[in-house]
Amino acid sequence: MVDVLLGLQWGDEGKGKIVDYFAPHYDIIARFQGGPNAGHTLYVNGEKIVLHQIPSGIFHASTINLIGNGVVLDAVTLKKEHDKVAAFGVDGRKNLFISERTHLILPTHRALDKASELSKGNDKIGSTLKGIGPAYMDKTGRNGLRVGDLLDKNFTTQYIKLRMKHQRMLDSFGFTEDISAWEEEFFEAIDFMRSLNIVNGEYFINEKIRAGKKVLAEGAQGSMLDVDFGTFPFVTSSNTISAGVCTGLGIAPNRIKEVIGVSKAYCTRVGSGPFPTELHDEVGERLRKIGNEFGATTGRPRRCGWIDLVALDFACMINGVTQIVMTKADVLDAFEELQVCTHYRIDGKEERSIPYQMGKLTIEPVYQQFSGWMTDITSIASSDKLPAAMNTYMHFINDYLKVPVSYISNGPGRDQIIKA
Ligand code: GDP
Ligand code: IMO
Ligand code: MG
Repeated sequence: MVDVLLGLQWGDEGKGKIVDYFAPHYDIIARFQGGPNAGHTLYVNGEKIVLHQIPSGIFHASTINLIGNGVVLDAVTLKKEHDKVAAFGVDGRKNLFISERTHLILPTHRALDKASELSKGNDKIGSTLKGIGPAYMDKTGRNGLRVGDLLDKNFTTQYIKLRMKHQRMLDSFGFTEDISAWEEEFFEAIDFMRSLNIVNGEYFINEKIRAGKKVLAEGAQGSMLDVDFGTFPFVTSSNTISAGVCTGLGIAPNRIKEVIGVSKAYCTRVGSGPFPTELHDEVGERLRKIGNEFGATTGRPRRCGWIDLVALDFACMINGVTQIVMTKADVLDAFEELQVCTHYRIDGKEERSIPYQMGKLTIEPVYQQFSGWMTDITSIASSDKLPAAMNTYMHFINDYLKVPVSYISNGPGRDQIIKA
């Protein structure tokens, strides 16, 4: 049986914390897409840790963590992260497994990402510069190197061949930065990776499922960053939605049961692209400050705004969301008034659907106003203690989306979560 947990907005919904919370109920936590562009924050013994490549179940000794074939893997980041979790007593060689079909991010992919962004000027995507786009291009372009290849004695030759191709592309961008230090680190990390558990991911996971084990597929990024259904071209390069679980792990669709969607009680976005409910005023500034909205991967300030039910409804539809976890509700504790976007006004008409190219249209959000709860909810442990104004806010969202909010997260800590 497979459940899925993924982001419903533009990423950073708090997926890492929620996966860590649910992990004890699962045998396997598996990443199915994305790469080190992800930054998933969790707290272990009160200490903050950000994971980029390793699944967020790694701190539970009896949980297997699988990096699936749909992921793009940066060996250097993985090695660093392996050492980071080791400091917490976690032995990655024991409960971390990597699919041999997982594509590798090469130093030249990072360079190409940077060169491509520079060439776009004001139209840049605002990528994390981790080489995600170029690595996925080499996958679909049928050029990329995979984790299984590093066990081949010709790995270096294969690398050099692809590197030469990349060099020609870098030359055409006029990119002249010296990346030899990155390459040195890369080969060290590749050597290290040979000591990890490299498996046939699809047999590995399906045998476990047949044996009755429970899998939680951990999404990265968010539904609105999906390469097909997000705000293209301001998206990432993978399928971040539930459909990506099948291709990213080798799991059949009929194995999937619950699709748990994670959404903030408001909304953020990092990088370029449309964001209809973005606030450019002091309210947005306050959300950023109270919510500590700075990127976990790049440290960039996140753009902040009110919750967007039009986009959330779309994400629920595309993913088949069966329950919602609402995070960062505590960030709204001291706001007297809250706004909820129920429609987009486009050319004077109210719409409840996501248009083809949001970025090319002038979208005015239509809001319904709610009273804030003006109560510190961070130490509330049961739903019957939640303030009435908060119940009104949550019920409205429930009714609009026709999907239950099953948990409310009221702080970054592992135990700060309330079953609704
Ligand atoms: P992810 O990429 O979806 O895993 O999310 P990030 O880790 O990038 O960003 C979420 C941030 O919010 C992290 O700093 C978390 O520690 C924090 N966080 C998660 N849930 C809550 C919550 O309910 N309340 C507050 N105040 N912070 C939270
Ligand atoms: P998690 O898993 C938020 C954004 C980047 C950029 C766009 C493309 O922590 O939620 P990319 O490097 O993927 O080519 O960048 O996507 N982005 C994220 N935003 N959270 C993430 O991951 C993101 N991963 C990529 O800012 O706008
Ligand atoms: Mg993040």
